[in-house]
This record gives sequence, structure tokens and C-alpha cells, in this order.
Amino acid sequence: MDRIHITGGAPLNGVIPISGAKNAALPLMIASLMTGETLELVNVPRLADIASLSRILGNHGVDHMVVGKRPGQTTETGQTIRLTASNVIDTTAPYDLVSTMRASFWVIAPLLARFGEAKVSLPGGCAIGTRPVDLLIMAMEALGAQIEIDGGYVVARTRNGLRGGEIRFPKVTVGGTHVALMGAALAHGTTVIENAAREPEVVDLAECLIKMGARIEGAGTPRIVIEGVSRLHGARHEVLPDRIETGTYAMAVAMTGGDVTLENTRADLLHSALDVLATTGAEVTTVPDGIRIRRNGAGIAAVDVTTDPFPGFPTDLQAQFMALMTLAKGRSHIRETIFENRFMHVQELARLGAKIRLEGDLAIVEGVHRLKGAPVMATDLRASVSLVIAGLAAEGETQINRVYHLDRGFEALEAKLGRCGAQIQRVRS
Ligand code: EPZ
Repeated sequence: MDRIHITGGAPLNGVIPISGAKNAALPLMIASLMTGETLELVNVPRLADIASLSRILGNHGVDHMVVGKRPGQTTETGQTIRLTASNVIDTTAPYDLVSTMRASFWVIAPLLARFGEAKVSLPGGCAIGTRPVDLLIMAMEALGAQIEIDGGYVVARTRNGLRGGEIRFPKVTVGGTHVALMGAALAHGTTVIENAAREPEVVDLAECLIKMGARIEGAGTPRIVIEGVSRLHGARHEVLPDRIETGTYAMAVAMTGGDVTLENTRADLLHSALDVLATTGAEVTTVPDGIRIRRNGAGIAAVDVTTDPFPGFPTDLQAQFMALMTLAKGRSHIRETIFENRFMHVQELARLGAKIRLEGDLAIVEGVHRLKGAPVMATDLRASVSLVIAGLAAEGETQINRVYHLDRGFEALEAKLGRCGAQIQRVRS
């Protein structure tokens, strides 16, 4: 199994190009099931999760083509893919495929809306909590689907197609909102989604669906209104920049010190995180087509953070922020409100010398003067990258095992950091 080897202590200086967002690309790829025509997606990151979803869509009969590289493109320039679901041969998403990636459960909505049936395996537990799908099922039922659970599968049917309805989410759910949007876009009549997720990835999906002929208003607000249409057509859409990758590298610079420009990204995708970073003492400025982060000399101030749905501080940056706070001057409180078990990085950060105490959903971090490298183990995607950040700032050698988690969500991580002066290598075995 591959490992990442880091010799810490070097500040980061240079330019890091930000990739297309994994969590936007996944629902966009799933939206290809909504039409028999071709959906062309530009700026798709090269990631293990994208490859897994391509396999899952392939199993339904979706043709997948990667457009060849064009002059001037590097391996890190996002890829362009064409997905064509003109010949869907299977409306079942089996356990062995869905269990590799939870987001693949979302195929339930386009399959149901376009073909009137879907049989999708329940995704099961995952490292960051139980993560149920009850609200996604509730949304499909609100659109008139009949749903049964049979042998670990959600079996969904409609007699005469989905019909518009009111979907009122009791808590904000990104996946629930994606599924509701896709189902309602092809339903008969009008759907209103209340307490919708406002995440930029929801807006990106809505914009792509609109290009495909859907009639959607209010994406990015808590109330989305969808006027169903009978069919959608092909389109071309560019995946928005990855705000979590952007925030991760910004936190790395805030922790190691240095001066880095994050290219091809947008500050409005992560205002809350950038505001917090500025409060810790990092200098954050917007530049054309990106964000510049600097921290030279001054120490890191301790700041309290609570994760929240967008536009709040993202849960997907909580682990990385905790890494930063381990070297802050004083005590910070980090509260995780989205997932009940998203503190697995705490024990591994402790191996580097961090002082963190857990009280339920609250982590209390006492800043220390220095971290010291050690072998650590990655447990999920964002936890893994928090260990990379901490390793870059720690003295000596850090070895990160179970690197496949990183490969699910960070494109060319070693190359991007290495070019900014980080001593980071992948050891293949
Ligand atoms: C998306 O997951 C992201 N995944 C997650 O990123 C992200 O952490 C999460 O949104 C929150 O921002 C993708 O976009 C592929 P939710 P999702 O439904 O949609 C509960 C990463 O590291 N809930 O918004 O699955 C749920 O348990 C990943 O890239 C129910 O109770 O998250 C959680 O507590 C990890 N019932 C809360 O809602 C349901 O039916 C929010 O989850 C659905 C969700």
C-alpha cells in the first residue's frame, strides 16, 4: 500500500492550481442519466471517486468518453468527459458498487424519473458516522414514488412518472437536495423544496440542469422551485472549483508560513473559512482568478469554530482547521454539528504531539509550540489531509499510511505541494 513521506518544516511558496470540485462533479455525472443525449463535463478532476462513479454509471449502460488532451494541458488540467445515457440497460445499482461510494446512491432519482424504476443498494455505514438516507427516500416519496426496502435494497417505482410536490427537509442535506432537484426536474408539475441546501455544488448542479432544459429557480437559497419538464437534452458544463481543496491548501500555508497563490478558484465559495483564517493571523487577499495566502513571522491566533451548512464553516474543512489550531497560541474550541463521528483525526494528530480533548461534539485544542513527525494512519479523506498539513508543519519525518483515502479527493497532492517547496514524496509499495 502506498505511503506519503513528509519532512516537515519548509514554508510553502508559489502557485497551486485548484482542481474542479469532486463533490460537484459526482452529482453532475449522475445527471447524465437524465437524458439520452450527451452531457459534456469540463474540468473534471482525476480522482479515484470519479473513476469509481464512471464504473457505476457504466454498469447502468452509460457510455463514458474522456476527450484527449489539448495543446498546453498538463496532467493536472482537469479532464473533459462525455457521458451518454442513450441506452440504459440496468436500473439496479448493486451493493458491491454503491458500497464503494455513498454518492452513487443518488442515481435513484434520475433512474426513477426517467425510467419509472430503480433498485439501489442501501449504502451502509461509513467512517464519519451512520449517514442515513431516510431524507432522500422521503423526497422521492413526496414526488409520488412507491418505495420498499427489500434485502438491503431500496426498490422505488412510479406508475405514471414522478409528480411535483412539496419537499420540506427537517435538516439541511446536500444529497437530499441533489436528489430532489433531479427527481423534480423530470416530474409532472411544480415542486417546492424548503430548507434546501445552499452549497455551491447544489447551485452547480442546478445550473447544469438548466442548461439541459430544466426549469429551476432559487438554487442557492433555502427555497427552490422546479417546474417539471417532460425531457432534458444534452449540454456542456464546466465543474466549479473545489472549495475544500482551496481551503485545505490555504490552511496548509497558514500553518507552515509562506506565500501561495491558489489559482482557478473563487473566494465567494468559502468566505466563512477565509474569514476564520484571517482571524488566525493569515493574510488573505483575492487576486484575479484566485486567492493569495500569506503568513510570515507572526504566530497563529486561536479561534473557535462551529461547522454548519453553507454559508457556514464547512465540516469538510474541520479536520484541516484542527491541524492548524494545534500550533495556535492558546485554546480553541471546534464544534462539529454535521456528522456525529468526525473526530478520528484527533488520535492521529495526538501522535504528532497535539493536545486535544473531546467532549461529545466539541474538540478543545490547546496549542503547542511544536509538533514532531511520527507515523500516522489516515482514516477518511479530510482526516488524511489534515495529517498531511500537520506533517508539513511538524519537525522531522511524518509517514502517512492508507493513502488511498487521499487519492479519492485530492488531485496531484504531492506534485502541487512539492512545487511550493514541501518535502513530500509518495513511497509506492
Ligand atoms: C455531502 O454529503 C458531501 N458529499 C460530504 O463530503 C459533506 O461532508 C456533506 O455533504 C456535508 O456538507 C458529497 O457531496 C459527495 P448531507 P451528504 O446529506 O450529501 C444527515 C467529503 O469529505 N442526513 O448533507 O451525504 C447526515 O447524516 C464528503 O467530500 C440524514 O439524517 O451529506 C448528516 O448528519 C464527506 N438523513 C447531515 O444530514 C439523510 O437522509 C448532512 O448530510 C441524509 C442526511
